[in-house]
Amino acid sequence: MTEFAFIEELSDDAHEEKNQRKQEFPLMPEGEAFDMGTDESGKPLIDPRIFDAPEFFRNPYPYYRILRDHYPVFHDKLHNTFWVTRYEDITECYFDDEGFNTIPKGSSSGVLGNTQLELSGVEHRRRRNLYGQHLVGKALNNRIPAIEHLADEIIDGWTNLKEKDSPFVKDENGRRTIELGQVFANEFPIRVVCEVLGFPKESQSQFYYWYNSMMSGLGGSDTHKMGVEARQDLEDYVSEIVEKRREKPTYLYDNDGNPISKDIISKLCETKVDGDFLSSEEITSNIALVVGGGGETTRGAIMNMWALLLRHPDQFSEVLKHEENWDKAFHETLRHSSSIGGQPRHNSFDIEMHGVKIPAGSLMQMVDFSANHDDRIFKDPEKFNIFREDLYSGKLLRSGYAKEGKCSHMAFGVGPHLCPGAWISHQEAVVGSKIMSKRMKNPKIREDLMPKDIDGKKPAPMGIISVRDLWLEFDL
Ligand code: HEM
Repeated sequence: MTEFAFIEELSDDAHEEKNQRKQEFPLMPEGEAFDMGTDESGKPLIDPRIFDAPEFFRNPYPYYRILRDHYPVFHDKLHNTFWVTRYEDITECYFDDEGFNTIPKGSSSGVLGNTQLELSGVEHRRRRNLYGQHLVGKALNNRIPAIEHLADEIIDGWTNLKEKDSPFVKDENGRRTIELGQVFANEFPIRVVCEVLGFPKESQSQFYYWYNSMMSGLGGSDTHKMGVEARQDLEDYVSEIVEKRREKPTYLYDNDGNPISKDIISKLCETKVDGDFLSSEEITSNIALVVGGGGETTRGAIMNMWALLLRHPDQFSEVLKHEENWDKAFHETLRHSSSIGGQPRHNSFDIEMHGVKIPAGSLMQMVDFSANHDDRIFKDPEKFNIFREDLYSGKLLRSGYAKEGKCSHMAFGVGPHLCPGAWISHQEAVVGSKIMSKRMKNPKIREDLMPKDIDGKKPAPMGIISVRDLWLEFDL
């Protein structure tokens, strides 16, 4: 029997097939895979229904290990997908953006608009450079005071909040308990992006609403209408601002009120492509992509980093002692529990990888989660260790980093589509966390309020989905 046999053997009877597909897998102890049998040679089998099962969402890594070791390219006929799980193979595919295209044209355009996510090659480079340059290097350093200022403002808001004013704040025995997502991490990344793009402060909560609606609109047909409407509202709003900034650009200021540089919208307004100014529609799509790309991802990174550090108190105390360790903690968090699982690609030509024939135009899922846990690259990958020697946690290189026994993690992708917001999200998470760590004395997770695993005692494993709610207590 091959790994696909039971899918092919499914009865013709539609009802039975439906039940078969609903196969429930038992929840396994963290780190252990459910035994799905072996073939004649003793190779473990994989039932692709596992990828939809709750067990997989809470405990994916043992299954990725089976895939990497036995099926580095797994043809999943149930989902009509080829899963690619080894670090080196994924890196190679990401770098070859002519051979492996990004998502199909138009797939997100109803909501985000026509964005660079759908482009490859020269077309992609041109579009990406329009604003990517404003998010890195000197331009980014200029934005750090604005990020610090925003973090301070939000943290002031909840440290001064009274228990009666919020369901996410509780005071007991001289200790305050907060839910980190509600009071900080959900909104902070969106507000930072609005600030660096150059939107007026008053529009930030409206932006948060548009962001949430557009993100839900990408998720499925129920919420698609809401996403499209939010996109239209955003476009109306941006068009007005664009008209004004074309005439009179606006600036970003440092903490002393000195202008640093024009904001990104003002810069986009004066950008020309092939002699023509960008249209409001094009500017809106760029903005929607930057806001969309930077919200949930950075939220997840902040939440996961705090959860992991507080569950490894020895490492947390090293971070408090030496502030530069926050950079290491950020990168190790993204390697250990990234907020994005992977990216789809479509191969432009017929190819064969690891003996698997992949016809041109197939859907190939590059599993970044798995690359980050590939023990061909990272020793003891399931261990969270901010001091690991095999992870490069310095300045991110566009080409990805693999030298002298160190590799960069895959959470930002590598190659031409490498996340242009990588540095800014790094700054957000690190700057925000440094400020929070000074305000929250002796912080601990309120495990009694956190979701539990199957035994009803241990905390639920982090799995595929970033920590949703993180209840922390600290000295008042
Ligand atoms: C921890 C936070 C973040 C993670 C894990 C993350 C992850 C990623 C990944 C994996 C990609 C590559 C997509 C591909 O290969 O197809 C990507 C692309 C992108 N990200 Fe991020 N991102 C983060 C934060 C941000 C922020 C803060 C921004 C905006 C300020 C941003 C904007 C974008 C954009 C515009 C793209 C598309 C790039 C292109 O197609 O050339 N991201 N991100």
